[in-house]
Amino acid sequence: MPETDGRIKDHDITASSQWYETTGPQYARLNREEGDGAWCPAGLLQPSDTQYLQVDLGQLTFLTVVGTQGRYARNSGKEFARMYRLNYSHDGQLWRSWKNRLGNKTMEANDNAYVSVIKDLHPPIISRYIRLIPVTKMPTTVCMRLELYGCPWHDGLTSYSSPEGQLMMPPGYPIASLNDSTYDGAHERRKLSGGLGQLTDGVTGQDDFLVTRQYHVWPGYDYVGWRNGSLGSGYVEMEFVFDKQRNFTSMKVHSNNMFYRGVKIFSSVSCSFKPRLIANWETEPVEFRTVLDDRNPSARYVTVPLGRRNAKALRCRFHFADVWMMFSEISFQSGRRGSREISTAKAWFTSFLQLLNTSPSVTTPSTKDQPDDGNTPILIGCLVTIILLLVVIIFLILWCQYVCKVLEKAPRRILEEEVTVRLSSSSDTIILQTPPVPPRVSQMDHPYERVFLLDPQYQDPAGLRNKLPELSRSAETSACGGGYAEPDVTQCTPHQCFQSSVPHYAETDIVSLQGVTGSNMYAVPALTVDSLTRKDISVAEFPRHRLLFREKLGEGQFGEVHLCEAEGLPEFLGEGAPLPDRDGRPVLVAVKQLRADATNNARNDFLKEIKIMSRLNDPNIIQLLCVCVSSDPLCMVTEYMDNGDLNMFLSQREMESTLTHANNIPAVSLSDLLHMSVQISSGMRYLASLNFVHRDLATRNCLLDRRLTIKIADFGMSRNLYSSDYYRIQGRAVLPIRWMAWESILLGKFTTASDVWAFGVTLWEIFTLCKEQPYSLLSDEQVIENTGEFFRNQGRQIFLYAPLLCPPSLFELMMRCWDRDIADRPTFEGLYQALRPHVVQ
Ligand code: ADE
Repeated sequence: MPETDGRIKDHDITASSQWYETTGPQYARLNREEGDGAWCPAGLLQPSDTQYLQVDLGQLTFLTVVGTQGRYARNSGKEFARMYRLNYSHDGQLWRSWKNRLGNKTMEANDNAYVSVIKDLHPPIISRYIRLIPVTKMPTTVCMRLELYGCPWHDGLTSYSSPEGQLMMPPGYPIASLNDSTYDGAHERRKLSGGLGQLTDGVTGQDDFLVTRQYHVWPGYDYVGWRNGSLGSGYVEMEFVFDKQRNFTSMKVHSNNMFYRGVKIFSSVSCSFKPRLIANWETEPVEFRTVLDDRNPSARYVTVPLGRRNAKALRCRFHFADVWMMFSEISFQSGRRGSREISTAKAWFTSFLQLLNTSPSVTTPSTKDQPDDGNTPILIGCLVTIILLLVVIIFLILWCQYVCKVLEKAPRRILEEEVTVRLSSSSDTIILQTPPVPPRVSQMDHPYERVFLLDPQYQDPAGLRNKLPELSRSAETSACGGGYAEPDVTQCTPHQCFQSSVPHYAETDIVSLQGVTGSNMYAVPALTVDSLTRKDISVAEFPRHRLLFREKLGEGQFGEVHLCEAEGLPEFLGEGAPLPDRDGRPVLVAVKQLRADATNNARNDFLKEIKIMSRLNDPNIIQLLCVCVSSDPLCMVTEYMDNGDLNMFLSQREMESTLTHANNIPAVSLSDLLHMSVQISSGMRYLASLNFVHRDLATRNCLLDRRLTIKIADFGMSRNLYSSDYYRIQGRAVLPIRWMAWESILLGKFTTASDVWAFGVTLWEIFTLCKEQPYSLLSDEQVIENTGEFFRNQGRQIFLYAPLLCPPSLFELMMRCWDRDIADRPTFEGLYQALRPHVVQ
């Protein structure tokens, strides 16, 4: 149908009014310049006005992103709206106002006529009709262009009703508010009816219901929960109404099961059906008993078979199994006329669409009806059994390897004693402050003392130097200071270097440890915005209206990375520009954008990152192409690497063998892996030659293009995607401890030699095909404890094991990267020379 492949017809875009014919609603498509370049409502927009642009999406749609733009009209327009609201309706009659998770209705829009501003909808909207309502504080002319992004809502659920969620107030724990805070229907006499809310927002709750996936919300936010006995019955009754009569196969309920806090999945559910809204409930309900589980506290989806019953509405009674019952998502699988629409979260993610503009480059194939032969539960059961068996086997293999390593390397320590990071005598211990860790069996069985460097001899650089002469030695030979830091700001005398490596992670250090978007511009001395001028940045300013948003590639604390089409970039950059062959296709670039509300510190770091990157030029380092810094939001534009990051790439592949070929699993060869290693060593050799210290080398920060060329990057965005690779100290620094040399963790000392350590870990990741996190059997705290063992060097430290695929000589090279003596580690030049001969040309 036209809408699902991105084509909304002009007549489906209407408006409350328009200034001229040439600024009618049909001209409101984002990044298009037809008519007079945008939709403009008639007259001056007043603060009290409700002028709107309305889109009929033709069917219920799950909308997740909205893009807006002003009227540019090839430089003759200057009108835009600074804010807008959204109203939506299922039927074009009853309209509701969209609110964000904190209850605000107004969204920030544009501050110029050309840049498109893309906003995620949290929560998403499920609707057919959308109204965009520009908002102003003063009478003004506004014009707008719009794009909506989403996918068809195959669930067809138009509303659910339920008892309102409740407060949990357990002594000694935070209060959890388990209400349905985005519910958009009526709320009367403790009952919600006629709307949708958190149970259909696509966000599943975590295992611990107090931990939330959203920022700035309260404990328990992701769940709707009820207390047993509070509803006058032993069950929670919910009704579900659908757009049309459907043939229901199953219902999936995402439920918490933190049994040790009195929360369990439901013990049974009974669902009744109605063929029409005005009809009685059919007499024979479908009953389903769950298997209760008080061993595994993980939240889970419970699938309830619905026996292929036909209905337009369902009423389900979920029976309590314990004191509390908590749900975070409910979805339905239904079909019609023999074929079935499977409408799970996964299905709608695969059919994300750009709705107003046709754009084959971003529209992935829409969900196909999927056949179902009724054996699905059996198939799923078999699959789960096979997966469980495999997991057990893998676990046993890993465990054997681990035990062998431990026996080899740490005969006494790990097996018999508690694990400690005692760097000096036991009386001089302080605790490295970490966020409280929920009790886990392993930690309770092996309590550990986390010790940090308060020992006076570690406080006193001279004393430490006596104790660790190699530190002063290496300080003289290696650059000190900052990740991707330029030589002129980080070069310092050996003494200063040494001073900066005195144990720290004091708050001030940590502020500078985190760069923009979480990236690692750690130790560059503070620059003010004024002190960084345009002339410091040696790449050109690109007109931002020529960057056309295509899709979001990543997100971090301080910004986002988008895939964009860059109109006219080859001409702009001129001949010899580092752009791939286009074959007539549009030029795609990655655009890292600083959030509009970023702090001045983040702004500074962003500009610094641009300044540094603009001076890097190497085939194995990501290339900065141009910037948009003359106005906000600040953007840096880099080449786009279409094979994503190396971690994701390898983790989805197997080693080349006849078996993998036969099964069509993408494969890599040993020679591919060696080629990747050589490229990374080459990029790092270049950085080292400039005395740049990267500080976060890892496969997640290496990007690949379609020819498998690797380029080292650090967009910091990976910190959201790979958050378990980073260790947070009291909510301040975020550190990739599993890749860090002992001296970086214990002394805060980052040098090219600590980059070499990280390179060793990166090689290890490559040759394990990124199937496992380094030291996966150790908790973060144990990794830090192991660092103490590296420091003491008494043979108790645990090394990463030799990957199965790894030639012994290569593992020896890795081990040299992890040499306790900083000066004895190889250089990147040496690593490159050692690796290069192994690559088949
Ligand atoms: N993610 C972040 N930066 C990227 C880039 N340059 N190419 C592809 N994906 C990215």
